[in-house]
Amino acid sequence: MAANRVSTGIPTLDRITGGGLIPGKTYLVTGETGVGKTILSLHFLMDGLRRGEKVSYVSLDERINGVLDGALTLGWDFWTYYREGRFFPFEIRIYSEDLGRYRKDSRAYVDTIVKMTRGGEVSRIVLDPISAMAFGAADEYAVREYIREIITYLEEKIGATTMLTCDIPSGSTQLSRFGYEEYLSSGVVVLGLVNLDGRLVRTLLVRKMRWSPADHSIYTFEIVKGRGIIIGPTLKAVMQRQLGSAQTVSSAFRGQGESPAGSTSESSPI
Ligand SMILES: Nc1ncnc2c1ncn2[C@@H]1O[C@H](COP(=O)(O)OP(=O)(O)O)[C@@H](O)[C@H]1O
Ligand SMILES: [Mg+2]
Repeated sequence: MAANRVSTGIPTLDRITGGGLIPGKTYLVTGETGVGKTILSLHFLMDGLRRGEKVSYVSLDERINGVLDGALTLGWDFWTYYREGRFFPFEIRIYSEDLGRYRKDSRAYVDTIVKMTRGGEVSRIVLDPISAMAFGAADEYAVREYIREIITYLEEKIGATTMLTCDIPSGSTQLSRFGYEEYLSSGVVVLGLVNLDGRLVRTLLVRKMRWSPADHSIYTFEIVKGRGIIIGPTLKAVMQRQLGSAQTVSSAFRGQGESPAGSTSESSPI
């Protein structure tokens, strides 16, 4: 990883992003539901905790207990860090009727995060998923402005490296829920699923990465129990192998030396 950059927690993703994330900037992880956005964001937070940092996870639609217990299945014990006082998880509910007053409320929202994280000592924050803010909102403009205010104010006031996740509707070609957040963030990672001969393969694309020599190929990845996200070969390589020798996708993974089961550069303890 490049000096003065923040790791995503996934070594291969650090390489693909062109060296990792810029400290204090905001990044967006988008994709349909179930593609792995929450898991990617937890990788990022666990990396910070393992480096001795303080980090915060803000859930906008799920109960915190469910998320943290789910993370145990991936081998990540966030509860220990919570008890140590370095991990600050909390839930925030935003109601559509409040969105009209975004100017006042977005600041109150960030002020709540500052307060919950003891004056903004955290170095990493995840808001998951910001699209939950739009539930039932009639006025998309208000939602966009709200998100814009939150990103700007978070960067100004806390200065943590921030990852926002955003659900996009199934089948949509949009990068984000409102077609706008991508312009505000310093980078966009798009997760997806493609159907290869009746088998769903997970994909990852670094769509935008400001000030970084990013690799914009579409990669494949797997979510592995006890380890999290394991990035494999590019989708193109997987398709070529499949065409060439009728190999399965998982055997293609094994051929790349980044096997989920093998010992690889991705075999970090998390
Ligand atoms: N312990 C696990 N082992 C393997 N796969 C898992 C595990 N936990 C969750 N998953 C996979 O992760 C996916 C959900 O990822 P998640 O990050 O919650 O998605 P999103 O936030 O994009 O909706 C599920 O589809 C499931 O297949
Ligand atoms: Mg999620």
